[in-house]
Amino acid sequence: MEPKEQVEALENKAMEDLNDVNDQDALMNFRNTYLAKKSELSALMGKMKDIPAELRGAFGKIVNDTRAKIEAAFNAKKEAIERKAMELKLKAEEIDLTLPGRTHQAGAVNPCWVIVDEMMDIFAGMGFDIVEGRDVETDHFNFELLNVPKDHPARDMQDTFYIDDSLLLRTQTSAAQAHYMLSKGGKEPIKMICPGKCFRRDDDDATHSHQFGQIEGLVVDKNISLADLKGTLELFVKKMFGEKREIRLRSSFFPFTEPSVEVDVSCAKCGGKGCNICKGTGWIEILGAGEVHPNVLRMCGYDPEVYSGFAFGVGIERLAMLRYGIDDIRRIYANDIRFLKDFSEK
Ligand code: DAH
Repeated sequence: MEPKEQVEALENKAMEDLNDVNDQDALMNFRNTYLAKKSELSALMGKMKDIPAELRGAFGKIVNDTRAKIEAAFNAKKEAIERKAMELKLKAEEIDLTLPGRTHQAGAVNPCWVIVDEMMDIFAGMGFDIVEGRDVETDHFNFELLNVPKDHPARDMQDTFYIDDSLLLRTQTSAAQAHYMLSKGGKEPIKMICPGKCFRRDDDDATHSHQFGQIEGLVVDKNISLADLKGTLELFVKKMFGEKREIRLRSSFFPFTEPSVEVDVSCAKCGGKGCNICKGTGWIEILGAGEVHPNVLRMCGYDPEVYSGFAFGVGIERLAMLRYGIDDIRRIYANDIRFLKDFSEK
């Protein structure tokens, strides 16, 4: 074949091959075959020396024109393939602006915190300090300074998580009483509440948990009587449960108070007539309280001949369950947002 015909044949073959090129890999192969330095077209250029001198110019032009044609077709094809690839990519990444956004569920305050916040408000309004106690206590502060010596039967009621012989997880916020009295050096009057966690080796059921919250209250001053306790708790109960609620004191026993009382609130559901909530009595027990025992005052640096006081301790979950009609204490800890939301709106 004449060199000129070879060039034409090559051009035809190239154009035919280019028809089948559809992706980047095929494009690269095509370029290597027809346009690279070692391509057939370059090889034809190498044949120049076999062509008579007067025809070389014309032949060179034919080869160059052919290369230009193949190159132009190649570039057009390349552009088309790239455009197509971009279109596919854009389509794949297309954002559907009509899709609803992903919403984040806002958390809600646990009902126990609602109660604690409210109690802190109510008592701060009556001039009480808010005190922070400690989760890990010594036997000395948790029991002994509260008039519960070793081997006292009252310890049985507070089966305890001991860390070693003298360290334990606080079983009652009452431990904060002793710390606070000692910090005041036996002279200053005291009005404080202390909210916090308590721990007991209790079997967990609908009304018991091995961990629970309490709020301790302590007032120490000259001439503090049971009447002050009653007045303070009455005000608290009316603010927390409503103006119509009454309280009553029943005699009880706690080692750290004398006299000791249990405090009941009149049933909010039946107003005192008796129903299933108050088990027919018209009253619901909410807390323990009493006049601070002289031994406790003495051990904590206050002279019981000069000072007297009252104290109370209330279960936070119990208040929350009563207030909101929660039937199972475990709901309070389950952290189920559907349950918690009920309280954030109240
Ligand atoms: N600490 C008691 C308990 O956990 C509750 C209590 C009763 C606290 C009487 C007091 C109180 O301060 O005076 O069962």
